[in-house]
Amino acid sequence: MDSWMINLTRNIWPFRLTQRDAFSQCTEDVLSEIAEKAGSLKKPDAIEEESYLLWVMGRLMMLDKVAIPDPALFQVHPQGEGVRVCRKRAGSVEFCFLMFEPDGYIPYHDHSDCNGVMRVLGGEVTTRNYDLLEQTLEGMVLQPSAQAWMTEGRMASLSRHRDNVHQVTAGPEGAVVLDVFTLFSHDAGCRYMKVTASEQWSGLAQGQLINGEGGA
Ligand SMILES: [Fe+2]
Repeated sequence: MDSWMINLTRNIWPFRLTQRDAFSQCTEDVLSEIAEKAGSLKKPDAIEEESYLLWVMGRLMMLDKVAIPDPALFQVHPQGEGVRVCRKRAGSVEFCFLMFEPDGYIPYHDHSDCNGVMRVLGGEVTTRNYDLLEQTLEGMVLQPSAQAWMTEGRMASLSRHRDNVHQVTAGPEGAVVLDVFTLFSHDAGCRYMKVTASEQWSGLAQGQLINGEGGA
């Protein structure tokens, strides 16, 4: 056998182990790599945000399976219905694991000064996104931008300027989701809102902030 073939086997082998510990280690390695990359972004306003998001998605795609934290580490989501959350912070990145009961949901919220990648780890979710066009004293002007039905393994992203407002609803079997948020300032975070949409999905909608913050 040629030597290059042996080396290739060695490189692939660690990612093909099936022991639980091996998966955990792989997940930790990839999440650490993402946190390191985010920490190296010195001028957030100057970054190519879409390229960065594609890079994050590419790293998550490397994982055949993502290790989910112990269920005992999950807490009730402060704004969701039938949702529990487990957050891990690493520098300017927050890894947010969400466990949805059947038909559980997180109501409309934005992601001020941050972007995110979502990967469905189990079950299915539907999402509905808006672009924030304008914010006035009366509220926000929102433009419908995306609707998706996502099953296990599917990923989606939102940037500071695209799809930044959304809601997430689990299917009849529930869902487990990993969100990877990159925060660009100390004020970065979610703001929950009531959205009044026109009868047609394509029409503009109004968003009114409501009390309460609390992650994805
Ligand atoms: Fe969110």
